[in-house]
Amino acid sequence: MSDVNIWINDQQVKAKAGQTILEAADAAGIFIPRLCFHPALEPSGSCRLCAVEIDGQRGLPAACTTPVSEGLRVNTQSAKLLDFRREMLQLILRDHPRHCLGCPRNGTCELQQLVTVVGIDFPYPPPDKERPEPLPGGAYFERDYSLCVRCGRCVRVCHEVRGARAIVFRESKDGRQEVGTPFGRPLEESGCQFCGACVDACPVGALRENLSDVHGEPTAKMQAMCEALTAIVTDLYK
Ligand code: FES
Repeated sequence: MSDVNIWINDQQVKAKAGQTILEAADAAGIFIPRLCFHPALEPSGSCRLCAVEIDGQRGLPAACTTPVSEGLRVNTQSAKLLDFRREMLQLILRDHPRHCLGCPRNGTCELQQLVTVVGIDFPYPPPDKERPEPLPGGAYFERDYSLCVRCGRCVRVCHEVRGARAIVFRESKDGRQEVGTPFGRPLEESGCQFCGACVDACPVGALRENLSDVHGEPTAKMQAMCEALTAIVTDLYK
């Protein structure tokens, strides 16, 4: 692949022909916020958080879907972009519960990190809808779609990587897009292979590993984690 010279925030970057702006920025150590992007998936350009400005072009193209070209000058940090990203993130946060401290993804949640990076002021307004009950996810994972940010990563990984369509986007009762199984079937009847790829792709706590089995007993993984933790603590007090 031939090299292409681009400038990101006035820094010259050698990119590879065929790369997107996001890939070139990552390779150069320049972070552009993103949510729907996942390296194992085709970019969908849906969350708009990776918007950038390009000299001579109108609008705010998505860095994850825009290919590099020789001489491209990209800005990732203008006041206009920062305002736009805050606006996009506020829209996502509008529906998101505010119980981060009790969420198993607290500290590893990509949405939480984005709030810090993009700079949303706390306290932001609480969601305007009731929180639905978490759904069963079989013996291996849990589903709490009230935490879903509709990035589509779980749906795409199920289809594009695993070749299944066990989870899909469908229309909710209030006419919005939500993730669920086709026709609301139980996971066991939806073609789910319980591979966990959707759990790995989820940026928030909507899909997460189940650390107890169907009888409420800790799984082998949970037991191993507890044993490792006990060993660390025991070591500390030696
Ligand atoms: Fe590019 Fe979502 S990460 S549009």
